[in-house]
Amino acid sequence: MNKTAWQNFQQQYLNLPELDMSLDTSCMNAPHILPHELENLFSSAFQQMQQLEAGSLANPDEKRMVGHYWLRNPELAPTVEIKNIINNTLEKIINFAAEIHQLKLQPQKAAAFQNVLLLGIGGSALGPQFVQNAFASENDRMQFYFLDNTDPDGIDQVLNKLGKGLAETLTLVISKSGATKETRNAMLEVRQVYEKSGLEFAKHAVAVTAEHSQLDLLAKKENWLRRFPMWDWVGGRTSIFSAVGLLPAALQGLDLNNFLSGAKIMDELSRQTDVCKNPAAVLAWMWYHAGGGRGEKAMVLLPYKDRLLLFSRYLQQLVMESLGKEKDLTGKTVNQGLTVYGNKGSTDQHAFVQQLREGPANFFVTFIEVQKDREGQSLEIEPEATSGDFLQGFLLGTREALYQSGRTSLTITIEELNTKTLGALIALFERAVGIYALLIGINAYHQPGVEAGKRAAGAVIELSQKIQKHLQSQPEQQFTAPDLADALGESAKTTIIFQLLLHLAANNRLQKFSDDNPFSTRFQAN
Ligand code: PA5
Repeated sequence: MNKTAWQNFQQQYLNLPELDMSLDTSCMNAPHILPHELENLFSSAFQQMQQLEAGSLANPDEKRMVGHYWLRNPELAPTVEIKNIINNTLEKIINFAAEIHQLKLQPQKAAAFQNVLLLGIGGSALGPQFVQNAFASENDRMQFYFLDNTDPDGIDQVLNKLGKGLAETLTLVISKSGATKETRNAMLEVRQVYEKSGLEFAKHAVAVTAEHSQLDLLAKKENWLRRFPMWDWVGGRTSIFSAVGLLPAALQGLDLNNFLSGAKIMDELSRQTDVCKNPAAVLAWMWYHAGGGRGEKAMVLLPYKDRLLLFSRYLQQLVMESLGKEKDLTGKTVNQGLTVYGNKGSTDQHAFVQQLREGPANFFVTFIEVQKDREGQSLEIEPEATSGDFLQGFLLGTREALYQSGRTSLTITIEELNTKTLGALIALFERAVGIYALLIGINAYHQPGVEAGKRAAGAVIELSQKIQKHLQSQPEQQFTAPDLADALGESAKTTIIFQLLLHLAANNRLQKFSDDNPFSTRFQAN
């Protein structure tokens, strides 16, 4: 590295000794100081972040406060009630995990709960999956299984893996709204398997959900083992420090206090109003710089650490569900977003990194480096070179090669991956999303697209039910898709009806009589 590059590096290297972490933006080709035109945007964003943390209705569409920062520092909560409920819930989580681990709470027909089966989707699953995977070890207090979909075959795969272990399985049903169909379906399927095994579901089930939700009412009525609250001031994708993330982490045996304290420290560092010293602001600035405040470049996440494999999936939701918005806060159509994808290094150097190096320069990379390779000494694979040295070599080499060909990147380095640094990493991105959303003037805390998807599926299910009822009402008759569409008065939906019929037939729920012309295929009730 020549002297100029070394100087540039020093100017664009933010050291965070409190967290043994650093942020290097020297390969982003950004100016050393905040451009004048962004100063006002940032000072307004900082003000709004302050108001948000003080309890303003920062999610205007849903008229809700945005309180995930209080979860790691309850003293910040705007009311004593909120502060107390956060503290009480944390205590309840720790006590519950201790009861399970110390066999004070036992399953109906086995000596101990050995497994956790977590049912949830989106913000109610991605965080727990990420954390569990990041710290999975032979010291885990319990084995984890996840169902985060309504795919019958996926459900069977997991339940078959559990097999007789179901009797020793604690099922966590996590859904803030308590009405998400994928989670409800998984719950009903799992419940049936417990019952078929002569086990009462309620004696193995725990709910994490908003008070008075459908799920909450069910869990209360059936007297499930426990119910943990979710609140309207915590969004799904920022719920990892609520019971959604903390309960599974406690059951795994992780240190919740360190996890929370890493996030709290990052929050404190990211409240500074000097942009260049504020890690989340620097990140938001780099996103703005890379994509012109329009998300014109995708963020490719490359952690060179297997344990961080699920970070890109986690961040994909956090960033894209928060920033991908049609309208800005004034109601103007803006179609904002920031595309996130990634996996891990160096593995991806044998996959999509080929295109990063030579294809369109429509991205910037976020490298994550973990300095400590492993517990204990490493084998020298070659003289003075371990596997970990190679891992770092691949990161630094790729970064340099990308930079030489005009592809920018930033690098977050942590000395060691532990619950504290992971908490800090998550908080860093949560705050960067919050600040960036304010720079571009959008509401990061609602998800109208997700809600629309939920409603659209409901309409399709209704149509499928109508089809089946109609066929059953005329059991002797065969219908083509257009015949049926006419009969139902749904001609505009003939294509969907055709697809629904094929799916029902593939699952032996009606008979199919094929024709040479696939569009003349006839269908009849069984
Ligand atoms: O971030 C979000 O709001 C969503 O991704 C939700 O987490 C997801 O839709 C699941 O919702 P719920 O927790 O209500 O089941």
